[in-house]
Amino acid sequence: MKERETFAENLLSWFDVNKREMPWRETKDPYKIWLSEVMLQQTQVNTVRSYYLKFIERFPTIETLAEADEDEVLKYWEGLGYYSRVRNFQSAVREVAETYGSVPDDGEQFLALKGVGPYTRGAVMSIAFNQPYPAVDGNVFRVFSRLDDDATDTAKPSARKHFENKVMQVIPERAGDFNEALMELGATVCTPRNPICMLCPVNMHCEAFEAGTVLERPVKIKKMTRKELRYKVMLIINDKGELLITQRPKTGLLGGMWQFPMFDEDMPMEDIEAVLDMKLMDKKEKFHTVTHGFTHLDWILDVYIARTTDQPGHDFQFIAENEKENYTFPVSMSKIFSHYQQVK
Ligand code: ADE
Repeated sequence: MKERETFAENLLSWFDVNKREMPWRETKDPYKIWLSEVMLQQTQVNTVRSYYLKFIERFPTIETLAEADEDEVLKYWEGLGYYSRVRNFQSAVREVAETYGSVPDDGEQFLALKGVGPYTRGAVMSIAFNQPYPAVDGNVFRVFSRLDDDATDTAKPSARKHFENKVMQVIPERAGDFNEALMELGATVCTPRNPICMLCPVNMHCEAFEAGTVLERPVKIKKMTRKELRYKVMLIINDKGELLITQRPKTGLLGGMWQFPMFDEDMPMEDIEAVLDMKLMDKKEKFHTVTHGFTHLDWILDVYIARTTDQPGHDFQFIAENEKENYTFPVSMSKIFSHYQQVK
Protein backbone atom coordinates (compact mmCIF):
# COMPACT_ATOMS: atom_id res chain seq x y z
CA MET A 1 0.00 0.00 0.00
CA LYS A 2 1.17 3.49 -0.77
CA GLU A 3 1.19 6.27 1.90
CA ARG A 4 0.03 3.91 4.58
CA GLU A 5 0.03 6.53 7.39
CA THR A 6 -2.96 8.43 5.99
CA PHE A 7 -4.97 5.47 4.69
CA ALA A 8 -7.28 4.96 7.68
CA GLU A 9 -7.94 8.66 8.01
CA ASN A 10 -8.92 9.03 4.35
CA LEU A 11 -11.13 5.98 4.45
CA LEU A 12 -12.91 7.09 7.65
CA SER A 13 -13.50 10.64 6.37
CA TRP A 14 -15.20 9.15 3.33
CA PHE A 15 -17.23 6.71 5.43
CA ASP A 16 -18.44 9.45 7.79
CA VAL A 17 -20.02 11.28 4.86
CA ASN A 18 -21.06 8.43 2.56
CA LYS A 19 -22.15 5.58 4.76
CA ARG A 20 -25.53 4.14 3.91
CA GLU A 21 -28.26 4.10 6.51
CA MET A 22 -28.81 0.67 7.99
CA PRO A 23 -31.01 -0.09 10.98
CA TRP A 24 -28.20 -1.93 12.81
CA ARG A 25 -26.05 1.17 12.51
CA GLU A 26 -28.48 2.97 14.88
CA THR A 27 -27.54 0.77 17.84
CA LYS A 28 -24.59 -0.31 19.93
CA ASP A 29 -26.49 -3.29 21.38
CA PRO A 30 -24.08 -6.21 20.79
CA TYR A 31 -26.97 -8.67 20.43
CA LYS A 32 -28.50 -6.69 17.56
CA ILE A 33 -25.15 -6.11 15.89
CA TRP A 34 -24.41 -9.82 16.17
CA LEU A 35 -27.81 -10.65 14.65
CA SER A 36 -27.18 -8.27 11.75
CA GLU A 37 -23.80 -9.83 11.04
CA VAL A 38 -25.28 -13.33 11.04
CA MET A 39 -28.01 -12.22 8.62
CA LEU A 40 -25.50 -10.39 6.41
CA GLN A 41 -23.41 -13.52 5.89
CA GLN A 42 -24.46 -14.64 2.41
CA THR A 43 -27.39 -12.19 2.16
CA GLN A 44 -27.52 -8.70 0.63
CA VAL A 45 -28.00 -5.61 2.79
CA ASN A 46 -31.29 -4.67 1.10
CA THR A 47 -32.83 -8.07 1.75
CA VAL A 48 -31.63 -8.14 5.34
CA ARG A 49 -33.20 -4.79 6.37
CA SER A 50 -36.81 -5.91 6.70
CA TYR A 51 -35.92 -9.32 8.16
CA TYR A 52 -33.75 -7.62 10.77
CA LEU A 53 -36.48 -5.17 11.80
CA LYS A 54 -39.14 -7.86 12.13
CA PHE A 55 -36.78 -10.13 14.01
CA ILE A 56 -35.78 -7.55 16.64
CA GLU A 57 -39.37 -6.46 17.04
CA ARG A 58 -40.36 -10.01 17.98
CA PHE A 59 -37.08 -10.97 19.74
CA PRO A 60 -35.73 -7.66 21.10
CA THR A 61 -33.38 -9.18 23.69
CA ILE A 62 -31.18 -12.18 24.36
CA GLU A 63 -33.80 -13.48 26.79
CA THR A 64 -36.71 -13.30 24.35
CA LEU A 65 -34.75 -15.24 21.75
CA ALA A 66 -33.37 -17.74 24.26
CA GLU A 67 -36.89 -18.58 25.42
CA ALA A 68 -38.49 -18.72 21.97
CA ASP A 69 -39.65 -21.87 20.24
CA GLU A 70 -37.24 -22.96 17.48
CA ASP A 71 -39.98 -23.32 14.90
CA GLU A 72 -41.14 -19.77 15.47
CA VAL A 73 -37.59 -18.44 15.14
CA LEU A 74 -37.14 -20.37 11.90
CA LYS A 75 -40.31 -18.75 10.58
CA TYR A 76 -38.71 -15.30 11.00
CA TRP A 77 -35.78 -16.53 8.88
CA GLU A 78 -37.91 -18.00 6.10
CA GLY A 79 -36.54 -16.93 2.72
CA LEU A 80 -33.10 -15.84 3.99
CA GLY A 81 -31.57 -19.27 3.33
CA TYR A 82 -28.70 -21.01 5.09
CA TYR A 83 -30.97 -21.94 7.96
CA SER A 84 -28.25 -23.52 10.10
CA ARG A 85 -27.18 -19.92 10.73
CA VAL A 86 -30.28 -19.17 12.76
CA ARG A 87 -30.25 -22.48 14.60
CA ASN A 88 -26.63 -21.91 15.63
CA PHE A 89 -27.41 -18.31 16.53
CA GLN A 90 -30.25 -19.30 18.83
CA SER A 91 -28.08 -22.00 20.48
CA ALA A 92 -25.32 -19.47 21.02
CA VAL A 93 -27.75 -16.89 22.42
CA ARG A 94 -29.12 -19.51 24.81
CA GLU A 95 -25.60 -20.23 25.99
CA VAL A 96 -24.94 -16.51 26.46
CA ALA A 97 -28.15 -16.13 28.48
CA GLU A 98 -27.28 -19.07 30.73
CA THR A 99 -23.55 -18.53 31.12
CA TYR A 100 -22.88 -14.80 30.87
CA GLY A 101 -26.19 -12.90 31.10
CA SER A 102 -25.10 -10.58 28.28
CA VAL A 103 -22.94 -10.85 25.16
CA PRO A 104 -19.36 -11.32 26.39
CA ASP A 105 -16.91 -8.58 25.39
CA ASP A 106 -14.09 -11.11 25.64
CA GLY A 107 -13.09 -12.22 22.13
CA GLU A 108 -12.05 -15.73 23.24
CA GLN A 109 -15.32 -16.38 25.05
CA PHE A 110 -17.30 -15.01 22.12
CA LEU A 111 -15.39 -17.09 19.56
CA ALA A 112 -16.18 -20.26 21.52
CA LEU A 113 -19.94 -19.84 20.91
CA LYS A 114 -21.72 -21.96 18.33
CA GLY A 115 -21.57 -20.59 14.80
CA VAL A 116 -19.14 -17.80 15.69
CA GLY A 117 -16.03 -17.77 13.47
CA PRO A 118 -13.22 -15.25 13.11
CA TYR A 119 -15.26 -12.94 10.87
CA THR A 120 -18.25 -12.70 13.23
CA ARG A 121 -16.00 -12.31 16.24
CA GLY A 122 -14.07 -9.49 14.55
CA ALA A 123 -17.22 -7.69 13.40
CA VAL A 124 -19.03 -7.87 16.76
CA MET A 125 -15.99 -7.14 18.95
CA SER A 126 -15.03 -4.13 16.82
CA ILE A 127 -18.46 -2.68 15.98
CA ALA A 128 -20.14 -3.21 19.38
CA PHE A 129 -17.12 -2.84 21.70
CA ASN A 130 -14.62 -0.98 19.50
CA GLN A 131 -11.94 -3.57 20.07
CA PRO A 132 -9.14 -3.82 17.48
CA TYR A 133 -10.07 -7.07 15.73
CA PRO A 134 -9.98 -7.59 11.95
CA ALA A 135 -13.26 -8.59 10.25
CA VAL A 136 -12.23 -10.09 6.93
CA ASP A 137 -15.07 -10.93 4.58
CA GLY A 138 -15.07 -11.16 0.79
CA ASN A 139 -15.11 -7.36 0.49
CA VAL A 140 -11.98 -7.04 2.56
CA PHE A 141 -10.17 -9.74 0.56
CA ARG A 142 -10.91 -7.74 -2.56
CA VAL A 143 -10.06 -4.30 -1.19
CA PHE A 144 -6.72 -5.34 0.31
CA SER A 145 -5.64 -7.54 -2.60
CA ARG A 146 -6.09 -4.42 -4.75
CA LEU A 147 -4.51 -1.95 -2.33
CA ASP A 148 -1.37 -4.10 -2.20
CA ASP A 149 -1.68 -5.51 -5.73
CA ASP A 150 -1.47 -8.83 -3.91
CA ALA A 151 -1.89 -12.02 -5.96
CA THR A 152 -2.43 -14.32 -2.97
CA ASP A 153 -4.97 -17.00 -3.88
CA THR A 154 -7.95 -15.99 -1.74
CA ALA A 155 -9.44 -19.49 -2.03
CA LYS A 156 -6.62 -20.93 0.07
CA PRO A 157 -7.46 -21.46 3.74
CA SER A 158 -4.34 -19.52 4.77
CA ALA A 159 -5.54 -16.38 2.93
CA ARG A 160 -7.73 -15.21 5.82
CA LYS A 161 -4.80 -14.95 8.25
CA HIS A 162 -2.73 -13.23 5.56
CA PHE A 163 -5.36 -10.51 5.06
CA GLU A 164 -6.13 -10.23 8.77
CA ASN A 165 -2.48 -9.35 9.29
CA LYS A 166 -2.74 -6.63 6.66
CA VAL A 167 -5.79 -5.14 8.38
CA MET A 168 -4.05 -5.19 11.76
CA GLN A 169 -1.16 -3.16 10.35
CA VAL A 170 -3.45 -0.21 9.61
CA ILE A 171 -6.40 -0.54 12.01
CA PRO A 172 -6.97 2.78 13.82
CA GLU A 173 -8.57 3.73 17.15
CA ARG A 174 -12.04 3.67 15.55
CA ALA A 175 -11.76 -0.04 14.85
CA GLY A 176 -15.47 -0.75 14.32
CA ASP A 177 -16.03 2.16 11.94
CA PHE A 178 -12.88 1.17 10.08
CA ASN A 179 -14.07 -2.41 9.53
CA GLU A 180 -17.48 -1.21 8.40
CA ALA A 181 -15.85 1.35 6.11
CA LEU A 182 -13.80 -1.39 4.44
CA MET A 183 -16.95 -3.44 3.83
CA GLU A 184 -18.82 -0.36 2.60
CA LEU A 185 -16.02 0.51 0.20
CA GLY A 186 -16.03 -3.06 -1.10
CA ALA A 187 -19.80 -3.07 -1.51
CA THR A 188 -20.25 0.32 -3.18
CA VAL A 189 -16.96 1.45 -4.83
CA CYS A 190 -14.38 -1.35 -4.94
CA THR A 191 -16.87 -3.80 -6.44
CA PRO A 192 -15.91 -7.06 -8.19
CA ARG A 193 -16.62 -6.27 -11.84
CA ASN A 194 -17.19 -2.53 -12.23
CA PRO A 195 -15.14 -0.76 -9.57
CA ILE A 196 -15.45 3.05 -9.62
CA CYS A 197 -11.77 3.76 -9.09
CA MET A 198 -12.12 7.40 -10.16
CA LEU A 199 -14.40 8.06 -7.18
CA CYS A 200 -12.46 5.92 -4.73
CA PRO A 201 -11.43 7.83 -1.60
CA VAL A 202 -8.27 5.75 -1.25
CA ASN A 203 -7.17 5.36 -4.87
CA MET A 204 -3.95 7.22 -4.04
CA HIS A 205 -3.08 4.29 -1.77
CA CYS A 206 -3.91 1.61 -4.31
CA GLU A 207 -1.10 -0.27 -6.01
CA ALA A 208 -3.38 -2.21 -8.37
CA PHE A 209 -4.92 1.11 -9.53
CA GLU A 210 -1.44 2.36 -10.33
CA ALA A 211 -0.41 -0.89 -12.03
CA GLY A 212 -3.66 -1.29 -14.00
CA THR A 213 -4.37 -4.70 -12.44
CA VAL A 214 -7.55 -3.87 -10.50
CA LEU A 215 -9.70 -6.33 -12.44
CA GLU A 216 -7.12 -9.09 -11.94
CA ARG A 217 -7.48 -8.84 -8.17
CA PRO A 218 -8.39 -10.73 -6.11
CA VAL A 219 -6.98 -13.97 -7.44
CA LYS A 220 -9.22 -16.94 -6.70
CA ILE A 221 -7.89 -20.19 -8.07
CA LYS A 222 -9.78 -23.03 -6.51
CA LYS A 223 -12.86 -23.89 -8.52
CA MET A 224 -15.79 -25.12 -6.57
CA THR A 225 -17.07 -28.37 -7.93
CA ARG A 226 -20.80 -28.10 -7.71
CA LYS A 227 -22.94 -31.13 -7.35
CA GLU A 228 -26.32 -31.39 -9.04
CA LEU A 229 -29.04 -33.40 -7.34
CA ARG A 230 -32.27 -34.15 -9.12
CA TYR A 231 -35.45 -35.10 -7.24
CA LYS A 232 -39.10 -35.82 -7.85
CA VAL A 233 -41.41 -33.56 -5.84
CA MET A 234 -45.00 -34.74 -5.46
CA LEU A 235 -47.85 -32.22 -5.21
CA ILE A 236 -50.55 -34.50 -3.84
CA ILE A 237 -54.04 -33.07 -3.58
CA ASN A 238 -56.92 -34.61 -1.63
CA ASP A 239 -60.63 -34.23 -2.31
CA LYS A 240 -60.77 -31.02 -0.23
CA GLY A 241 -58.06 -29.46 -2.40
CA GLU A 242 -55.50 -29.71 0.40
CA LEU A 243 -51.80 -30.41 -0.22
CA LEU A 244 -49.65 -33.09 1.37
CA ILE A 245 -46.58 -31.88 3.29
CA THR A 246 -43.91 -33.38 5.53
CA GLN A 247 -41.20 -32.05 7.83
CA ARG A 248 -37.50 -32.50 7.01
CA PRO A 249 -35.25 -34.09 9.64
CA LYS A 250 -34.27 -31.63 12.38
CA THR A 251 -30.60 -31.68 11.44
CA GLY A 252 -28.79 -31.23 8.14
CA LEU A 253 -29.70 -29.16 5.07
CA LEU A 254 -32.89 -27.11 5.69
CA GLY A 255 -33.34 -28.97 8.99
CA GLY A 256 -36.85 -28.83 10.44
CA MET A 257 -38.40 -27.02 7.47
CA TRP A 258 -41.56 -28.25 5.74
CA GLN A 259 -41.84 -29.44 2.14
CA PHE A 260 -43.86 -31.36 -0.37
CA PRO A 261 -42.82 -35.03 -0.41
CA MET A 262 -39.54 -35.39 -2.29
CA PHE A 263 -37.92 -38.53 -3.70
CA ASP A 264 -34.87 -39.63 -5.67
CA GLU A 265 -35.29 -38.80 -9.33
CA ASP A 266 -35.35 -42.41 -10.43
CA MET A 267 -37.78 -43.75 -7.85
CA PRO A 268 -40.74 -45.32 -9.70
CA MET A 269 -44.25 -44.05 -8.91
CA GLU A 270 -45.24 -47.45 -7.48
CA ASP A 271 -42.46 -47.16 -4.88
CA ILE A 272 -43.50 -43.60 -4.07
CA GLU A 273 -47.07 -44.81 -3.51
CA ALA A 274 -45.71 -47.52 -1.22
CA VAL A 275 -43.66 -45.05 0.84
CA LEU A 276 -46.64 -42.70 1.14
CA ASP A 277 -49.01 -45.64 1.68
CA MET A 278 -51.42 -43.98 -0.75
CA LYS A 279 -53.03 -44.75 -4.04
CA LEU A 280 -52.33 -41.86 -6.42
CA MET A 281 -54.58 -40.93 -9.32
CA ASP A 282 -54.19 -38.65 -12.36
CA LYS A 283 -50.42 -38.98 -12.21
CA LYS A 284 -49.58 -36.62 -15.01
CA GLU A 285 -46.34 -36.21 -16.82
CA LYS A 286 -43.97 -33.69 -15.33
CA PHE A 287 -45.83 -30.52 -14.35
CA HIS A 288 -42.98 -28.11 -13.76
CA THR A 289 -39.26 -27.96 -12.96
CA VAL A 290 -37.68 -25.70 -10.34
CA THR A 291 -33.97 -25.22 -9.69
CA HIS A 292 -32.39 -23.91 -6.53
CA GLY A 293 -28.71 -23.29 -5.76
CA PHE A 294 -27.08 -23.85 -2.39
CA THR A 295 -23.41 -23.18 -1.65
CA HIS A 296 -21.99 -26.44 -3.03
CA LEU A 297 -25.06 -27.94 -4.51
CA ASP A 298 -27.86 -27.35 -7.02
CA TRP A 299 -31.26 -28.91 -6.64
CA ILE A 300 -33.30 -29.70 -9.73
CA LEU A 301 -36.84 -30.47 -8.69
CA ASP A 302 -39.19 -32.15 -11.16
CA VAL A 303 -42.71 -31.55 -9.90
CA TYR A 304 -45.52 -34.06 -10.43
CA ILE A 305 -49.18 -33.54 -9.54
CA ALA A 306 -51.41 -36.35 -8.33
CA ARG A 307 -54.73 -36.78 -6.52
CA THR A 308 -55.69 -39.12 -3.73
CA THR A 309 -58.66 -39.97 -1.55
CA ASP A 310 -56.49 -41.70 1.07
CA GLN A 311 -55.58 -40.44 4.53
CA PRO A 312 -51.97 -39.34 5.12
CA GLY A 313 -49.49 -41.72 6.75
CA HIS A 314 -47.62 -41.11 9.95
CA ASP A 315 -45.03 -38.51 8.83
CA PHE A 316 -47.32 -36.62 6.48
CA GLN A 317 -50.23 -34.21 6.76
CA PHE A 318 -52.61 -32.33 4.50
CA ILE A 319 -52.87 -28.55 4.76
CA ALA A 320 -55.16 -26.06 3.08
CA GLU A 321 -53.44 -23.55 0.82
CA ASN A 322 -54.15 -20.71 3.24
CA GLU A 323 -52.43 -22.62 6.05
CA LYS A 324 -49.06 -22.62 4.31
CA GLU A 325 -47.96 -19.49 6.11
CA ASN A 326 -48.10 -21.37 9.42
CA TYR A 327 -45.20 -23.57 8.29
CA THR A 328 -41.66 -22.66 7.31
CA PHE A 329 -40.90 -23.68 3.72
CA PRO A 330 -37.57 -23.45 1.86
CA VAL A 331 -37.54 -21.01 -1.04
CA SER A 332 -37.52 -23.86 -3.60
CA MET A 333 -40.78 -25.25 -2.18
CA SER A 334 -42.38 -21.80 -2.05
CA LYS A 335 -41.53 -21.40 -5.74
CA ILE A 336 -43.36 -24.65 -6.48
CA PHE A 337 -46.34 -23.54 -4.41
CA SER A 338 -46.60 -20.15 -6.17
CA HIS A 339 -46.40 -21.75 -9.59
CA TYR A 340 -49.13 -24.21 -8.63
CA GLN A 341 -51.38 -21.39 -7.44
CA GLN A 342 -50.87 -19.46 -10.66
CA VAL A 343 -51.62 -22.26 -13.08
CA LYS A 344 -54.06 -24.61 -11.34
N1 ADE B 1 -21.74 -6.64 5.56
C1 ADE B 1 -21.55 -7.37 6.65
N2 ADE B 1 -21.54 -6.61 7.74
C2 ADE B 1 -21.75 -5.35 7.32
C3 ADE B 1 -21.85 -4.13 7.96
N3 ADE B 1 -21.75 -4.04 9.28
N4 ADE B 1 -22.03 -3.05 7.20
C4 ADE B 1 -22.13 -3.18 5.88
N5 ADE B 1 -22.06 -4.28 5.21
C5 ADE B 1 -21.88 -5.38 5.93
